[in-house]
Amino acid sequence: MTAPETTPTGDLEPLLADLTNAFGPTGFEGPVRAIMRRELTPSAAAVETDGLGSLIARFDGTAGRPRVMLAAHMDELGLMVRRITDEGYLKFQPLGGWLDQSLINQRWVVLTATGPIPGVTGIKTVHVMSTEARGRLFRREDMFIDVGARSRQDAEERLGIRPGDPIAPDSRFTPLAGGERYLAKAWDDRVGLAVMVLAVRELRSAASGHPNTVFAVSTVQEEVGLRGAQTSVHAVEPDIGINLESGVAGDYPGISADEAQEQLGAGPSVFLHDGSMLPNLRLRDFVVDVAREANIAIQFDVLTGYGQDGSVIQRSRAGAPSINIAIPTRYLHSHNGIVARHDVLRTARLVAELVRRLDADTVARIRAFD
Ligand code: CO
Repeated sequence: MTAPETTPTGDLEPLLADLTNAFGPTGFEGPVRAIMRRELTPSAAAVETDGLGSLIARFDGTAGRPRVMLAAHMDELGLMVRRITDEGYLKFQPLGGWLDQSLINQRWVVLTATGPIPGVTGIKTVHVMSTEARGRLFRREDMFIDVGARSRQDAEERLGIRPGDPIAPDSRFTPLAGGERYLAKAWDDRVGLAVMVLAVRELRSAASGHPNTVFAVSTVQEEVGLRGAQTSVHAVEPDIGINLESGVAGDYPGISADEAQEQLGAGPSVFLHDGSMLPNLRLRDFVVDVAREANIAIQFDVLTGYGQDGSVIQRSRAGAPSINIAIPTRYLHSHNGIVARHDVLRTARLVAELVRRLDADTVARIRAFD
């Protein structure tokens, strides 16, 4: 498709690698929070955490209002140690919406108080399976993680594993096709966080500033019911919201255009419907107009399921117009997803262009209902 473009974001790959390699299952977002704090603090007027752990960075523009909330979630799908069997195997509680088949025969890291412990979801050897059993699906209830422990005591005392310890997928960031595309875990929603960092950088580097106050919010616990967004909106009190998510690419074998319409490399995706939200139509039209003006190709997606933090911003206080802008992603909620470099850069530029135009009059017009 398009050749890798030259941009002022020469450090894009290290940022994406840092964010996706970081272990941050739901409820244990600390390592990701540290990266976001590092990236946002230098140009922020204030950086704080709310009582649940979301990181809120404030950027003062030329006006106090409107208050523009950008959001992306820090947590990734993970597991949690439920119990350790007498033989030293770990039985687990999934955190987030896993497909059972993507849990089996994968590498994991148990995040103990004394450090990371590698392990694998063991799979029964094919040689001993009946023909009937070979065609059967694996059920999460039957799964376990093998950390190489000799017994429960060994797992507890030598490896330091305890019930409640979080478990993260183990999968490393890898450029594909000469860096045009990237393979990694946790694009959902580390790619949204990367876009937030890049957009804020672009906004802060412009001499003209922005006619509003921007709150860049890295939320926690999105994958278990948009929990972090619910507390952070109280701290932010947004007038308008732009949520940044990993979208659902529908461009590989076996997925249909009626299930998902996004294509990798075709630019930012504007959600028109998902299971949690209908975007404000005037905000949608504003995004379409700005994208055209800035010469950024965009695409749309109408999904039946899915849920995202924008829906919480939309219903905060007396309501705030919100939209979800996504970076097309293949193979979500698994150890290995793919995004396109082009889409990351274009989405960041679109977000910066949007925020630059969200002055008091524009937001008042978007917020007006007749
Ligand atoms: Co997500």
